[in-house]
Amino acid sequence: MAKRHPSLIPLSHDHHHGLALALRCRKHALGQLNPGDPAALEACAAEVSRFFNKNLTPHFEAEETVLFPLMAAYEECRELVAQLEREHREFHRLAARLGEPGGLRKSLFDFGDLLEQHIRSEERRLFAAFEMFVPAPDAERAGQEIKRLLEQGQAARAGAGTVTP
Ligand SMILES: [Fe+2]
Ligand SMILES: [Fe+2]
Repeated sequence: MAKRHPSLIPLSHDHHHGLALALRCRKHALGQLNPGDPAALEACAAEVSRFFNKNLTPHFEAEETVLFPLMAAYEECRELVAQLEREHREFHRLAARLGEPGGLRKSLFDFGDLLEQHIRSEERRLFAAFEMFVPAPDAERAGQEIKRLLEQGQAARAGAGTVTP
């Protein structure tokens, strides 16, 4: 993955884990890992649910609160941001489907497929635009806000006690 602006590194770090998980989702869905073992499929779905709750949910919040509004101010990025927001909503729908009986293989495939594609769009297009357009003081401020939201969100989900807003 390209060398990132320091403000984007925590998000890129999640992306790195997300890509590895996306690959495993698709391999499980296609029967390339532990074929014929339904428990392995279910374990992968449980891992995806955990990753969704613990990492992706605060990650989406940080993007939606800080990064997307900042980048939507640039005409060139407006359509991309709208698309990424739609995809975030789609992840919520797909994550809910992982808990439903039946169709697990397809749900995992769809989740992994969207996750890879979404991460690549953010890294190659949104983050590249951030590095090109956003003035240094705004980029710095955004980085601090992203870091704060990620830490706050992860602490809250880890059950680490009260988090001051
Ligand atoms: Fe995103
Ligand atoms: Fe992201």
